Amino acid sequence: MPELRPLVTGDAPHVLAAFHSDPAMSRQGEVSDLSTAEAYIRAATDTGAGRLAFAVDVGGSSVGLVGLSIDRANRVGWFFYWMHREHRGRGLMTTAARTAADWALAPTDQSGGGLHRLELGHRRNNPSSGGVARAAGFIQEGVEREKFLIAGARVDVLTWGRLRDDPVPSGGRMMINTKETLL
Ligand SMILES: CC(C)(COP(=O)(O)OP(=O)(O)OC[C@H]1O[C@@H](n2cnc3c(N)ncnc32)[C@H](O)[C@@H]1OP(=O)(O)O)[C@@H](O)C(=O)NCCC(=O)NCCS
Repeated sequence: MPELRPLVTGDAPHVLAAFHSDPAMSRQGEVSDLSTAEAYIRAATDTGAGRLAFAVDVGGSSVGLVGLSIDRANRVGWFFYWMHREHRGRGLMTTAARTAADWALAPTDQSGGGLHRLELGHRRNNPSSGGVARAAGFIQEGVEREKFLIAGARVDVLTWGRLRDDPVPSGGRMMINTKETLL
């Protein structure tokens, strides 16, 4: 069964494979070989800097990631995700993102992350990312018009947020294995 567990340095070959699976992954960071994959994992899991990353684990292989970058003073987390191209389109990330968002917003005395708000953004021409956000309980809050210049064209970014008290989304969850604390 797929599960969420902490991303570790040993996941570097899988992170590298995911970045090689789709040229669009270059927007998620600079990963071109094992050493840059390890550096990516170190940065994504640097808890001192408020970073936390879950691997979406299928049969012991990390095929995707849900990451958080925490603003502790405000109890806000920037939320992001990606999947290896071959594993997309099966609703795996939808379930993973929903599970991770529930955990991040749950109270610390219920072993949750204790955050008040999660936020994310994605390009307007990336509708599957919006589908994941909506299914994970995020509500669209705004549009950052023509924010990015991609291949000569200006592209809008849609911004989304989920508050601790927003309706909990229906749908499946997966096992989440973490002892992390965010605050
Ligand atoms: C974004 C990403 C993680 C989505 O993962 P995925 O496995 O492809 O997601 P799915 O195909 O299961 O689609 C997720 C949702 O979007 C919906 N969706 C997919 N394609 C869609 C489209 N063209 N239009 C509208 N909705 C769409 C699906 O129906 C699904 O919603 P549901 O679960 O309610 O049915 C993946 O495409 C990816 O890694 N992209 C590169 C990195 C990235 O862009 N990350 C987002 C920035 S935070």
